[in-house]
Amino acid sequence: MLDFKGKTILVTGGGAGIGRAIAEAFGGAGANVVVAELDESRVADVRSALESAGVDALVSHTDVRDRAAVDALMGEVQKRFGGLDVLVNNVGDFLGVAKPFEMVTDEELDALYATNMKSVFLATRAAIPMLRPGGSIISISSIEAFRGIPMTTVYSAFKHAITGFTRSLSLELGPKNIRVNAIAPETTETPQVPVHSLIAPEHKDHIDRWIPLGRFGKPEDAAGAALFLASDLASWITGTTINLDGGALAAGGWYRDPNGRWTNVPVVSGNGFNF
Ligand SMILES: NC(=O)c1ccc[n+]([C@@H]2O[C@H](COP(=O)([O-])OP(=O)(O)OC[C@H]3O[C@@H](n4cnc5c(N)ncnc54)[C@H](O)[C@@H]3O)[C@@H](O)[C@H]2O)c1
Repeated sequence: MLDFKGKTILVTGGGAGIGRAIAEAFGGAGANVVVAELDESRVADVRSALESAGVDALVSHTDVRDRAAVDALMGEVQKRFGGLDVLVNNVGDFLGVAKPFEMVTDEELDALYATNMKSVFLATRAAIPMLRPGGSIISISSIEAFRGIPMTTVYSAFKHAITGFTRSLSLELGPKNIRVNAIAPETTETPQVPVHSLIAPEHKDHIDRWIPLGRFGKPEDAAGAALFLASDLASWITGTTINLDGGALAAGGWYRDPNGRWTNVPVVSGNGFNF
């Protein structure tokens, strides 16, 4: 049921991190893989990795914030693969905007919209006419779509918006047998969030007490969820989001103390990071 031979999947931002793991996982499951990637060196890198793994891959230097570029890529996909079975809207970034909301500039608002929301709208709108029945759309949201995150309010607002987009679009596309879902990861080790290098060495042995399943996310975790959501195993799942978080959202403010006991009143001194 996880055999994607003959299927075509497009991953936005498939050159690194979560998107790359998803692209490689679908390639490993037999799919034809299309990657839209902004960074030229990552384009070359993922192209060579997919090709050496024997994947029929179309890796394109495409900025998914740009309508003309997205439409041109979709035209190429249609010509080469005759349509699309899975779209993974993976591009998203807080763009280093971590500050009080009242300090966020107009330029930062526009940039956050373009990367986190407009890219999803453009890729999805262009993909819908190409998606074959039985296909699906998966957007990479964030656990921050379901809880607050201070100083990153605008990014969080767009991730919350993906929940509504996913629900509403699933209704529109259900009658066409196209499913629409999202994946909401907790902190995951990627170039954008190199969490292990951000955590101060003396706090590394606390990691297993912060998240119930004892670790941060790996890009492969998201790849597993994406394969499942795109597969026939999930053929009655639409309009929903998988929390991919090791139990962090369920824990809310609960942590384990140095004796392994649960507490929702931790004694906080410092923040565990190098800053
Ligand atoms: N890493 C985390 O902790 C985490 C947690 C929750 C949600 N997410 C979400 O997961 C998704 C992937 O995150 P990541 O950490 O793997 O990111 P990343 O920055 O490590 O990788 C993203 C890739 O997308 C490419 N990209 C960026 N803008 C693009 C554009 N306009 N057009 C085409 N390609 C573009 C980048 O060059 C990069 O290769 C994002 O939507 C992010 O918000 C990440």
